[in-house]
Amino acid sequence: MAHTRQNQRSLTKAQKRRFVDAVLALKRQGRYDEFVRTHIDFYQGDGDGGLRVAHMTPSFFPWHRKFLLEFERALQRIDAGVSVPYWDWTADRSPTSSLWGEDFLGGNGHSSDRRVTTGPFARGGGHWTITEAVTDGDFLMREFGRPRQPVSLPSAAQLAGALGESRYDAEPWNSTASSGLRNKLEGWPVRRGDGTWFNHNLVHRWVGGHMLGAGSVNDPVFWLHHSFVDLCWSRWRAKHPKADPYLPLRRPGLGDSQHGRVLAAGDVMPPWNTPVRDMLDHSTLYRYA
Ligand code: CU
Ligand code: CU
Repeated sequence: MAHTRQNQRSLTKAQKRRFVDAVLALKRQGRYDEFVRTHIDFYQGDGDGGLRVAHMTPSFFPWHRKFLLEFERALQRIDAGVSVPYWDWTADRSPTSSLWGEDFLGGNGHSSDRRVTTGPFARGGGHWTITEAVTDGDFLMREFGRPRQPVSLPSAAQLAGALGESRYDAEPWNSTASSGLRNKLEGWPVRRGDGTWFNHNLVHRWVGGHMLGAGSVNDPVFWLHHSFVDLCWSRWRAKHPKADPYLPLRRPGLGDSQHGRVLAAGDVMPPWNTPVRDMLDHSTLYRYA
């Protein structure tokens, strides 16, 4: 039976505790860090050459949908009543929102070293030591709003702009695609070097610290962020029922700059060998409340 993913702001105290406890149990088992590792291993971008399955690519949404499902199933093996909540960052925009409470994800990092010192994922609590993508220290880091060069969370209008796109994705199928839902919601700057990010990428920027790079899974807010991105993809499909749910339909041919670099709907996504097309409809797996 399909389970339900809830808006994090409507979780009860008990639901928050069960989610946090399941995440901490996964960390103790060493399984959590395997998810961090997988994300690092699939962080290839436009400049890296070779196949891109997770980022700067049409399969950005289906790859992360599968990744979230695997994580959610791992949590449910610990507590069958848990699912991954979502963070609607167009609505919950305050550094002091309940999302960042002592009883849930903990708050901002300290201004000197970005170290998170509150909540269940503070290093000092003894349950959350960073072991993958360790940079400054083995503690979780955040830097809300990037004070040195301030950024704001994406607005509802910015998100609506992405959801208004009538095509799923567009050539050249990478971070420079100037139209299509995928790049507008993934959020790469359309012009090289204009130094701005949008939607999904801007949220990673706003949280800062570990959320900035390949090791972003080290911050549990990663899952709540991507759960909302997944919901937005689902909303786009409902809004554009006649659009192809995924593009490209066929792999770019020989001579195309994207030959061998992006997946078509029938191709399988490593590391799971799950076809892209199996991830285009989540209604039998879970629903959003
Ligand atoms: Cu990712
Ligand atoms: Cu992301």
